[in-house]
Amino acid sequence: MQHMLILSWAIAFCAKFVLGENSTYYNPVLSGWHSDPSCVHVNRTFYCATSTFLAFPGIPIYASDDLIRWRLISHVWSRNSQIPGISWNTTATQGGFYAPTLRYHNGEFYVASVYVVSTVDIDVFGVVFRSTDPFDEGKWSDPIRFDTSWRIDPDLFWDDDDTLYVATSGIFLQTLDLDTGSVGNPISIWSGTGGESPEGPHIYKKDSWYYLMIAEGGTALNHAVTIARSTNVTGPYIPYDQNPVLTNRGTDEYFQTVGHADLFRDANGHWWGMCLATRSGPEYEVYPMGREAALFPVTWDEGEWPVMEPVRGIMSGWELPNKTASVGLSNSDPDHYHFDADSEIPLHFIYPRIPPRKVSMTANGMQMIPTRSNLTGARDEEAELTGQHGIGFIGRPQTHTLFEFTVDLLFTPRAVQEEAGVSIFLTQYDHIDLGIVSIDECTYANYTKYHQCRGDGGSRMYFHFQIQSSANGTVSRLTPVPEDWVTRAIRLDIMASNTTYTLFASSVVGTDGRIQVGQAPSSVVSGGSGSFVGSVIGGFATCNGAGIGDSCPHQDIAYFQTWKYVGMGQQISSTTFVETPAA
Ligand SMILES: *[C@@H]1O[C@H](CO)[C@@H](O)[C@H](O)[C@H]1NC(C)=O
Ligand SMILES: *[C@@H]1O[C@H](CO)[C@@H](O)[C@H](O)[C@H]1NC(C)=O
Ligand SMILES: *[C@@H]1O[C@H](CO)[C@@H](O)[C@H](O)[C@H]1NC(C)=O
Ligand SMILES: *[C@@H]1O[C@H](CO)[C@@H](O)[C@H](O)[C@H]1NC(C)=O
Ligand SMILES: *[C@@H]1O[C@H](CO)[C@@H](O)[C@H](O)[C@H]1NC(C)=O
Ligand SMILES: *[C@@H]1O[C@H](CO)[C@@H](O)[C@H](O)[C@H]1NC(C)=O
Ligand SMILES: *[C@@H]1O[C@H](CO)[C@@H](O)[C@H](O)[C@H]1NC(C)=O
Ligand SMILES: *[C@@H]1O[C@H](CO)[C@@H](O)[C@H](O)[C@H]1NC(C)=O
Ligand SMILES: *[C@@H]1O[C@H](CO)[C@@H](O)[C@H](O)[C@H]1NC(C)=O
Repeated sequence: MQHMLILSWAIAFCAKFVLGENSTYYNPVLSGWHSDPSCVHVNRTFYCATSTFLAFPGIPIYASDDLIRWRLISHVWSRNSQIPGISWNTTATQGGFYAPTLRYHNGEFYVASVYVVSTVDIDVFGVVFRSTDPFDEGKWSDPIRFDTSWRIDPDLFWDDDDTLYVATSGIFLQTLDLDTGSVGNPISIWSGTGGESPEGPHIYKKDSWYYLMIAEGGTALNHAVTIARSTNVTGPYIPYDQNPVLTNRGTDEYFQTVGHADLFRDANGHWWGMCLATRSGPEYEVYPMGREAALFPVTWDEGEWPVMEPVRGIMSGWELPNKTASVGLSNSDPDHYHFDADSEIPLHFIYPRIPPRKVSMTANGMQMIPTRSNLTGARDEEAELTGQHGIGFIGRPQTHTLFEFTVDLLFTPRAVQEEAGVSIFLTQYDHIDLGIVSIDECTYANYTKYHQCRGDGGSRMYFHFQIQSSANGTVSRLTPVPEDWVTRAIRLDIMASNTTYTLFASSVVGTDGRIQVGQAPSSVVSGGSGSFVGSVIGGFATCNGAGIGDSCPHQDIAYFQTWKYVGMGQQISSTTFVETPAA
């Protein structure tokens, strides 16, 4: 069925094909939730960092040799001890790590970002992490902190005399001492061409000019890249008279919100850029993967302004660098795991925040102990119930328009309200779930209104399909689990089309058919309360608020066994779908 939609069958199996000297490739090269890319080229390997807000571990680093296949190699933030207690103290629902800048200087990688703790008290601080080996997650340092006076998106620019300058939103420039975290007086150097939220600055020095490239217009449909230059790092900066240099605003392109770019040069001296883009069309209603990272070629002649190719699904530009053997698996590769005691938690799995208890690997599969907070949480309650102290959920970003995800879940709840299942999770206020829950007859009677409560206190298992939408409220439906399915693993299945998720359940043994438990529009997990983030597909376990403190009363355990995610196609224009580029 979905396969019928794949039009570009002929070019399906090559990510790169040559037209004369130049190459053609598909965007987004780093699909799924990868906002605010910042990238460097070091010795024929390209590295990018992206923003992850509350998610843990956070600030992933990707590496690529050919600019097309990007492999996750580490997370900059992977230990609570790097900033003790910060995750559970964060009240902003889209707080956490904002747009990072990744740079390489004197043999070391540096990542600057701000951490947003609260948007009510405006509690924001700057951080710089460093590492000599970004392939080793444990080597990322604890951060030095610095004061950004609430401004976001710190850049890192070392001038020829080794002075380090940090530009931040606004746009302001100040020096930073990495030994002490002390900053110089901020000076205003530009405020863009009049768009709202001038932010995401990056400074480059080329042909004795200082170029200041920024994002403006806000991160939605008006987003754009503009540029100015000066012969002095402190200004005055003269804007380019043909700004914006990159945008899709006011177009009917499928790729929208193009902006927040960073530029780098390959080993052949060709310039490239990465930026964020949203596959939504100008309707801007269906984009469950949020802001993704797109690659564009740049022509930057000596003494001239850079010329950037507009971001589209099919791109043509400089010859792509050759593949080397070193990069390995890519972001678009399928998941296929049979979790057992010897398995490791896959590197690309993330939690919504630091969890109260991490999942662990056992002979029965990946074990998750339910949290009292469910995926939504309760407002104005203790932190264990609001989700602020973590939620029992782990998953991987949705990276394809069309995909199928299945997991075999072994879960036999003894207590009412104990629930485990799968979710398409954007935020606590926008998610789509299929759980297995234990409910007593009377609760079920109240639920369905028409069912008679026998009042014998007996409970049984139901499939619980739920749509939680900040725009449209909650849809909740219970369907009895067939009697002979219980006590064994049940396969839960999510099929994604370009507009809809369909959720199924089946028994992993026996011949009973698959039950379609529910269907939900992808618009539920597009924007809304999660305009900065993207959908994550995975498993959850909760006791829906029962008990006290941070433990559920019964500690029923959910085991996620065989876990598969297979991408089946990417939509790259309003009418074109392509097969996932072959690895
Ligand atoms: C660059 O990479 C090559 C091949 O991997 C390696 O032999 C060389 O040592 C690297 N050079 C630097 C400066 O890291
Ligand atoms: C977390 O909040 C507590 C209570 O307000 C405070 O004492 C502590 O310093 C905070 N920790 C961090 C890392 O912000
Ligand atoms: C850059 O401008 C600053 C501030 O006006 C000035 O002190 C400095 O000398 C200038 N640098 C150069 C290289 O012109
Ligand atoms: C190759 O790509 C570059 C970068 O986009 C562009 O400037 C150049 O015109 C292209 N050459 C041809 C022959 O298309
Ligand atoms: C890739 O390798 C081929 C064959 O060695 C070479 O001709 C070509 O120039 C290389 N391309 C780049 C971009 O380095
Ligand atoms: C069912 O609804 C009735 C009336 O609202 C309420 O009194 C009762 O507590 C409910 N029972 C359960 C088990 O939720
Ligand atoms: C979904 O795909 C169909 C079939 O190609 C297409 O007609 C429709 O416009 C697409 N919807 C969206 C929101 O992209
Ligand atoms: C909310 O419901 C309206 C009316 O059915 C629909 O048009 C809209 O797309 C829905 N919004 C979301 C985010 O699902
Ligand atoms: C989620 O948990 C809260 C209490 O923490 C509860 O009020 C709410 O009903 C739960 N949601 C579901 C779908 O059970």
